[in-house]
Amino acid sequence: MSSFWNAYIWVLFGITMLGLAALIHFTRKMPDPEGFTEETTGHSFDGIEEYNNPMPKWWLNLFWLTIFFALGYFIFYPLGNWPGVLGWTSQGQLTDDQVAHQRRYGEIYERFASMPVEELMDHPQAMRIGQRLYEDNCALCHGQAGTGSYGFPNLTNNDWSWGGSGDDIKTTLLNGRQGQMPAMGAALGSPGVRAVTEYVMQLSGHSVDTALAERGEPLYNATCAACHGQDGTGNQMLGAPNLTNDIWLYQIPGESLRASIAHTLNEGRAGNMPAWRDFLGEERVHILAGYVYGMSER
Ligand code: HEC
Ligand code: HEC
Repeated sequence: MSSFWNAYIWVLFGITMLGLAALIHFTRKMPDPEGFTEETTGHSFDGIEEYNNPMPKWWLNLFWLTIFFALGYFIFYPLGNWPGVLGWTSQGQLTDDQVAHQRRYGEIYERFASMPVEELMDHPQAMRIGQRLYEDNCALCHGQAGTGSYGFPNLTNNDWSWGGSGDDIKTTLLNGRQGQMPAMGAALGSPGVRAVTEYVMQLSGHSVDTALAERGEPLYNATCAACHGQDGTGNQMLGAPNLTNDIWLYQIPGESLRASIAHTLNEGRAGNMPAWRDFLGEERVHILAGYVYGMSER
């Protein structure tokens, strides 16, 4: 701390202590040599009058005691550049707490780390830890209940862009995921986009203009099947969603499904799931993966 701020703190401290001492000294009332007086403060509340007698001595001494206590406190604990005779620091306290936390939870984390992700849902303690981690880190994007929203996948269903096994989910959390759906508007032209959109609608069981969908099919096979599969069920290595199950990551709120799909084809999509390896550490991610696995349907 610079000497200016050090001095600033000590001056404030000195003024406060002296101020308090002065306040007590000058406002105390010495006891009348004759003891109890009949003198009143002149206040009257509903006919009850307030006597003006001094505070009991022991009470006054309590005030002095608090000032001495404060002085003692500042001998033991740091103030400004004075380290305090105990050598306490907030940094040191944090480290102590972290060591205690590690000792307490390290063992628990270690025990769960040796279990497969899929089995953690049978352990209420793991689920409690997982739920807290989820609420602190994931609910912001995926929703408190894990049901997602526009652009943020629902984690409670059985539809996975990147795979739903325990290890897949753990890999998703550790490394993050970047979906890359290229913009196809220029390549397909707007009639092409309309036709392929119709075909995608048909893949997911919607009633469509079949003639238009028929024209879309060969375009789909030529430009989309490489990533989404010939049958439209997707590719979990690429994070290319299944287009046949009528579950949509990108259905724009308030817009028709047809318009949303056309939008995706025209503009492309690039969803980004952040990586958590460095922030949470592998042991916590392991438990969290178990929690996510547990919240999804199978
Ligand atoms: C290079 C691989 C690739 C190609 C080629 C590709 N896609 Fe995609 N597509 C993806 C990926 C990856 C996503 C997920 C994007 C994300 O997660 O942000 C996606 C997302 C989508 C979605 C959104 C799904 C949802 O749940 O909202 C639709 C619809 C779609 N693609 C249709 C198509 C069609 C039709 C074509 C061909 C014109 C096509 N894609 C070509 C990889 C591809
Ligand atoms: C900043 C927003 C954000 C946060 C925070 C976030 N996610 Fe995600 N997550 C996403 C997006 C966006 C995707 C979709 C990526 C894509 O387009 O493929 C995703 C994808 C996923 C997937 C893959 C879903 C699938 O279909 O395969 C899982 C699992 C997941 N997140 C779990 C979590 C968990 C658990 C946390 C908390 C540690 C978390 N996410 C935090 C935005 C977020």
